[in-house]
Amino acid sequence: MSVLVVGSYNQDHVWRIDRFPQPGETRRGLGFSTGPGGKGFNQAVASARQQAQTAFIGALGEDALARTARELAAAEGLDARWQVCSDTTTGSCGIVVDAQGQNQIVLDLAANERLSPEFVTAQQDLFAGARVVLVQMETGLSSVRAALAAAPAGCLRMLNPAPVHADADAALIAGVDLVTPNETEFADLLARCAGIDVGADSVAALGDAELHALCRRLGGASVIVTLGARGCFVSHADAARWHDGEAHYRLPSERVQVRDTTGAGDAFNGALAARLARFPQRSLRDALIQAGRAAALSTERAGAAVAMPTLAEVQARFG
Ligand code: RIB
Repeated sequence: MSVLVVGSYNQDHVWRIDRFPQPGETRRGLGFSTGPGGKGFNQAVASARQQAQTAFIGALGEDALARTARELAAAEGLDARWQVCSDTTTGSCGIVVDAQGQNQIVLDLAANERLSPEFVTAQQDLFAGARVVLVQMETGLSSVRAALAAAPAGCLRMLNPAPVHADADAALIAGVDLVTPNETEFADLLARCAGIDVGADSVAALGDAELHALCRRLGGASVIVTLGARGCFVSHADAARWHDGEAHYRLPSERVQVRDTTGAGDAFNGALAARLARFPQRSLRDALIQAGRAAALSTERAGAAVAMPTLAEVQARFG
């Protein structure tokens, strides 16, 4: 097994709308759909569809949504291990997508919050076979810390610090090799871990040297700040470790017809993990190009897990 994702599963309920409602306003939706989501599950599906052998550890309630989750995981070829929490529901999410493809999300973590460190570390066979362990912050952080600690020597530990979590700290970041915040998450981590205040809106416009210096304040991990349509910024403490020639650089995003940005970050992280697992001797830059392509394609489709492109689809579009 190459990629092990530890994280959340949600049932996403999605409404399309012309524009977001104001507080107190009722607006008619332009269509409804429901499907699998959750940052962890989305990233696992994204990885599997990029041809990495992928396993997933998550938590479910004992309800109809849980049955769907098991079927979907099997259909994607995931080796999924589920902690069953009979005293709560499977995670669920209400998502409103506007005409520009932007979203607003309301989330009930439910079972995801109960994912226990003991259940995670009990899946020793999955850790033993992992080249990349990928975690997010949509479960309790004790399970995230346990997963990172259980990663075997030589395994790449990758944290997508999403969504922002009040318990994230410098010790968490110190335990990873690669951290992939978006602008909001980056600003939050800087404040939390280094006591530096930077407005999330100003991150993308910072000069490269300044942004690199800020990334370095997070510790020794390589940092990839994802910047949406403006691509991403990469900052290394040790570029040679990643077969990269430069300590910091930017990569542009692919130009696509955006329909729904939900899960684009998950497509990026899952595809990045898959590429790093499949081709450990190639550069991080090479893996990022592939991840950016997968993320871009995912925005042309509605939904989260179901929007993740296959490797064949990425190759057909971008070569
Ligand atoms: O990143 C997108 C995901 O965030 C959605 O699938 C939703 O479940 C929320 O967790």
